[in-house]
Amino acid sequence: MSALPAELSGEIERLAARGLSAGCLARPMRDVAALTLSINRLKERKKAVICAHVYQTPDIICGVGDLVGDSYKLAEEARGTKAENVIFCGVHFMAETAKILDPSRRVFVPSGNAGCSLSESITAADVRELKARHPGLPVVTYINTSAGVKAESDCVVTSANAEKILVKMYREHERLIFIPDRFMGANLARKLGKTPGKDIILWNGSCVVHEKFDPRLIETYRRRYPGLVALAHAECPSEIINAVDFMGGTGDMLSYVRDTGASAYLLVTECGFGELARLRFPEKNFIAMCRLCPYMKSITLDSVLDALERLPAELEVTVPPDTAARARVAIEKMFELAR
Ligand code: 13P
Ligand code: SF4
Repeated sequence: MSALPAELSGEIERLAARGLSAGCLARPMRDVAALTLSINRLKERKKAVICAHVYQTPDIICGVGDLVGDSYKLAEEARGTKAENVIFCGVHFMAETAKILDPSRRVFVPSGNAGCSLSESITAADVRELKARHPGLPVVTYINTSAGVKAESDCVVTSANAEKILVKMYREHERLIFIPDRFMGANLARKLGKTPGKDIILWNGSCVVHEKFDPRLIETYRRRYPGLVALAHAECPSEIINAVDFMGGTGDMLSYVRDTGASAYLLVTECGFGELARLRFPEKNFIAMCRLCPYMKSITLDSVLDALERLPAELEVTVPPDTAARARVAIEKMFELAR
C-alpha cells in the first residue's frame, strides 16, 4: 500500500525530529520515509519488534528501531519483549541470544551475511578441547559467539560487563579461560593486574574491524584537535588501548561522552557508531575512525522490509533446544554477575 502525500510528509517530519538529515542518509529522505512508513505499519500487523544494534545505520536506528543499544542492552530488553516476531538488525549471535532467552517467539536476521569474525573463530568442539587441556578452569565467553560455544561455557560476558564479571570470577578462581577475543582478554587481564597466557588462557580470535586501526593516527588527531579525548572499544589491540584515554564497550563509550565535556571525541570503533553519537549528542564534536563492519552493514531498510513481509524460513534463527537450554544457563549467569 503506497503512502499518501500527507502521510509521507508526516513521516519525513518525524524522521527529521529524530535527527535524521540528508547528510547521514545514503538516499533521499523521501525514499527513506516511504520505507520506514511501510515497515512501521507492517510491524504492527506482524506483531513484531525491531531490535537495532548501535552499529546499524541511522535510518534503521531512528526510523524503525524499537529497542536500540549495545549487545548487553539488546539481550536484556529482547528478553522482556512480548512480541511474536523479533526482527534483529544486528549480527547473528545477537539474534541467537534473543532466541535462546525466549525460544517461544520467532527471531529473524534480515541478512544472510550477518556473521562476525569473532563468532566464526571458535567452535563448540574447540571449547571442549580447551577444557580438556585446562581441566577445572572456568570458561568465560564473550557474547560474540555461537549458541554451541555458549553451551560449553560457564559464563557469558559482553563488553559492558566483562571487567566486572572477571573481577568476580577471579575472587573464586586463580586462573580462567577467556574466549574468543584475544585482544579483549589481554586488555582486561592487564587492567586487572593479570598476565595473559598465565592467569588467563586466551583463544586466537579477533574482530576484523577493531584489529586493524592504526595507533599512529591517534597521535595525529591529538595534534590536530587540542583537548581531544580518545575512546576505544575493548576489542582493539593493546597498542590502541595504550594510546587512548578510555576503553570500554559501545554503551560505556556513550555514557562517557554524555558525562564529559571534551572539545572533541575520537571514537576508535566501527564507523557507524560515530553517526549515532552525532545524533545523540548534536552539540558535541566527534571524529570517527572509519572502518565499517561488513556484517552489520549487510542489513538495510529494504532487507528489513523484505524480512518483515515474508518472515522467511531461511532468515529465521533456530537453536536446538538442548543447546539453547545449556547456553541459557551461561547467559543467565552473566545477568546474575553483571548486577
Ligand atoms: P558491544 O557489546 O559494545 O555492543 O559490541 C559488540 C560488538 O560486536 C563490537 O564489535
Ligand atoms: Fe563482529 Fe567486529 Fe562486526 Fe562486532 S564489529 S560484529 S566484533 S566483526
